Amino acid sequence: MNWDPEQYLKFVEARRRPALDLLVRMGGKSAASIVDLGCGTGNITQLLAEHWPAARIVGIDSDQAMLEKASATASPPIEWRQADIATWQATDAPDLIFSNAALHWLDDHRRLLPSLIGQLAPGGVLAVQMPANFNAPSHRILLELAGDPGWQEAFEGVRMGAVLPAAEYHDLLTPLSQRLEVWETTYWQALSGDDAVVEWMKGTTLVPYLARLDMKTAKHFLAAYRARLAVAYPRRPDGHTLFPFKRIFLIAQR
Ligand SMILES: C[S@@+](CC[C@H](N)C(=O)[O-])C[C@H]1O[C@@H](n2cnc3c(N)ncnc32)[C@H](O)[C@@H]1O
Repeated sequence: MNWDPEQYLKFVEARRRPALDLLVRMGGKSAASIVDLGCGTGNITQLLAEHWPAARIVGIDSDQAMLEKASATASPPIEWRQADIATWQATDAPDLIFSNAALHWLDDHRRLLPSLIGQLAPGGVLAVQMPANFNAPSHRILLELAGDPGWQEAFEGVRMGAVLPAAEYHDLLTPLSQRLEVWETTYWQALSGDDAVVEWMKGTTLVPYLARLDMKTAKHFLAAYRARLAVAYPRRPDGHTLFPFKRIFLIAQR
């Protein structure tokens, strides 16, 4: 996958909001060693550094362009490392593993999340936010379109990302946690600009799809997607496009 930091940051405020909500829920928890998994452009990692100024913080991401943006914009002493979360192992047991809008890209949460909790220091916290919007028109229409005979071959094997139902995280993590909170929130995002939902999706969910197409074909595909989304997400009389977006949150203390 090739991420485009500028496209991702087009909606920086709406993308930051759930990370702030997760952070607030952590309360006054102290942390000397923090890892931000799937740190992307590093703006959330920067928030962690401001919240815990004395902590040693490492941002982990697999994408070169996102890490370059992170190291160019966030202030030191955050350490940036390129790694795949699926195989990443903490070198020393962190007090906090934070992950905003990244773990849904990984398979097998029944293995992954217990493994992350197992890497925490005793009393340490795993704090996770993930999109849970896969049944919304934005995602369903993308799946339908990508499954059309004309596109099916190009998108063979592309993974959109996935999360488990909230109750499954509860059942999975309760035996491993002295404190566990699981919640979901729908953000009624009022986006600005033309084709706002397509622009949003180009920054995230569409990344692995567009990676399969040359520029000309991508233009055709986006035109078809844009036409369908314009019906599903009409502009409001005030010019905004409302894009309700459901997210799931987990705080598990080892
Ligand atoms: C939607 S961005 C979120 C970035 C950041 N956490 C934020 O909230 O702004 C998702 C990030 O997860 C990273 N990512 C996805 N799968 C990954 C994996 N298996 N290992 C490491 N990073 C991954 C992507 O490269 C991307 O930078």
